[in-house]
Amino acid sequence: MVDSNASSASPEDTPNPNPDGNAPSESDLVVDTLAQKVQESLSLGKKHKFWETQPVGQFKDLGDNSLPEGQIEDPTPISEVKQEPYKLPNLYEWITCDMDTEEMCAEVYNLLTTNYVEDDENMFRFNYSKEFLRWALCPPGYFRSWHIGVRVISSKKLVAFITGVPSRIRVRNDVVTMAEINFLCVHKKLRSKRLAPVMIKEVTRRVHLENIWQAAYTAGVVLPTPISTCQYWHRSLNPKKLIDVGFSRLGARMTMSRTIKLYKLPESPVTPGFRKMELHDVPAVTRLLRDYLNQFIVAPDLDENDVEHWLLPKENVVNSYLVESSETHEITDFCSFYTLPSTILGNQNYSSLKAAYSYYNVSTKTPLLKLMNDTLIVAKRNDYDVFNALDVMQNESFLKELKFGPGDGKLHYYLYNYRLRNPLRPSELGLVLL
Ligand SMILES: CC(C)(COP(=O)(O)OP(=O)(O)OC[C@H]1O[C@@H](n2cnc3c(N)ncnc32)[C@H](O)[C@@H]1OP(=O)(O)O)[C@@H](O)C(=O)NCCC(=O)NCCS
Repeated sequence: MVDSNASSASPEDTPNPNPDGNAPSESDLVVDTLAQKVQESLSLGKKHKFWETQPVGQFKDLGDNSLPEGQIEDPTPISEVKQEPYKLPNLYEWITCDMDTEEMCAEVYNLLTTNYVEDDENMFRFNYSKEFLRWALCPPGYFRSWHIGVRVISSKKLVAFITGVPSRIRVRNDVVTMAEINFLCVHKKLRSKRLAPVMIKEVTRRVHLENIWQAAYTAGVVLPTPISTCQYWHRSLNPKKLIDVGFSRLGARMTMSRTIKLYKLPESPVTPGFRKMELHDVPAVTRLLRDYLNQFIVAPDLDENDVEHWLLPKENVVNSYLVESSETHEITDFCSFYTLPSTILGNQNYSSLKAAYSYYNVSTKTPLLKLMNDTLIVAKRNDYDVFNALDVMQNESFLKELKFGPGDGKLHYYLYNYRLRNPLRPSELGLVLL
C-alpha cells in the first residue's frame, strides 16, 4: 500500500521496540492487536456485514484451537456454481477487460491512477504503469474472465475494477491452487454504496467456475481475519526529494546535508559476480528460490514458467540480480524488486515518486545484508527515490542496519476459504503480492 514514513525520524532515532529481548513475541503481539481490534469493533457496534457471511476466519473464532486448519467450505460441483453474474445496480454493467488491447489497458490505468490506494494523509496515490498492469494480470495460465470491470451503461465509463490471477500457494505441506485477488477499486464518486461486496462475490463466482476454491489477498484495512500483519519499511535513496514532498521528515538534530550523507551509497555494487538475471538463469534461479521458500509457512510454489514471468527483468516493471561464482559459475544469491511509482498529490515541484519494492531475495553465500546493500546501490543508480520492503521472510535482519525506517501503515494478509489456527509472524510468510 501507499505509505509514508513521515512519522519516523532518521533511522538512528528509531527506537528498538524490544530492547530487553524479553518482550512478548511478535505473534503474541499480533494476537493482542487483533483482540484489541475485535474489542473496538464490538464496542462500536461495528460488524462486517459482508465478510461475516464469507468462508474466512472470523474474529470470534480467534484462538479456538478446536477448529481444523485448511479449507473452510467444501467445493461444490461446478454445475452448481451460479451461472449468471451477480446483479449490479441499474445503470451499470459487467465487462471482462482484455488487457492485451491498448484501449482497455488505458481505461484501467486511468481508473486506477485517479482512484486507487492513497496514504492516510492523501499525499500519494499508487500509479501502477500499463506495462506493470499487463505483467501483473497476465501470468502463465491466467483467465481473462478474472479481469472484471464495471461500466456505466450509457456513457461506457469504467467505474470499478477487480482482478484475480491463478497461483499455487503452499500452506505448510499443502500446495493449493488459489486466486490472488488484487486491484479492487471503486471510483471515488461511487464509494460506500456496497459495490465492493458485489465485486468480490463476482470474482469469487468466476474463480469457482475454474474449479478454484481458495484465494490470497492483502489490504491496508483490518477484515476478518488476517493470517499475518506486516509493516512496510522505507530506505531513502533520494532523501532531499523525499523530505521536499513530505514523504519523510528531517530527523531531530539533523541537517539536510547530514541526511544526504547518511543515506549516501557507493556508485556500483561491491559483490564480485553481481549481475542482472538473464533468460538462461531461469532454471538455476528457480532451484534457488524453491529451496529458499521451503522454510516459510506460506509461500508461492514457483516453477520455471512462473520464475520466467515474475522474475526475469522487465524494464520499469521488475528488476532481478544475482551473484554468479566466478569459479563454479553457480548462482548463489538472488535479489529482486518491482517498480511502483506513486503520484505526488498537490506538490508544485514534483509529480511522481519512483519507488522500488523488495520482491524475493535469497542469500546462500553472500550475506543478506551485503546482497541487499548492493540492491540498494543498483536501485539508486537507476534513479529510484525510495526502496520499500515489508518485514516478511528474513527482511528484518537487514532493515535497521541498512537504514530503513518504519512506515506508518500496516499490510494485512488474508486467505479466503482457508483457515490457519494462529496468525503468522511476518518472518514466517514467504509471499509478496503486488
Ligand atoms: C476498497 C474499496 C473498493 C471499497 O469500496 P467502498 O465503496 O469504500 O466500500 P463498499 O461500501 O462498496 O463496501 C464495504 C465493504 O467492503 C469491504 N472492504 C473495504 N475495503 C476492502 C478491501 N480492501 N478488501 C476487501 N474488502 C474490503 C468492507 O469491509 C465492507 O464490508 P464489511 O461490511 O463486511 O466490513 C474503495 O474504498 C476503493 O476503491 N478504495 C481505493 C482503492 C483501495 O483501497 N483498494 C483496496 C486495495 S487492498
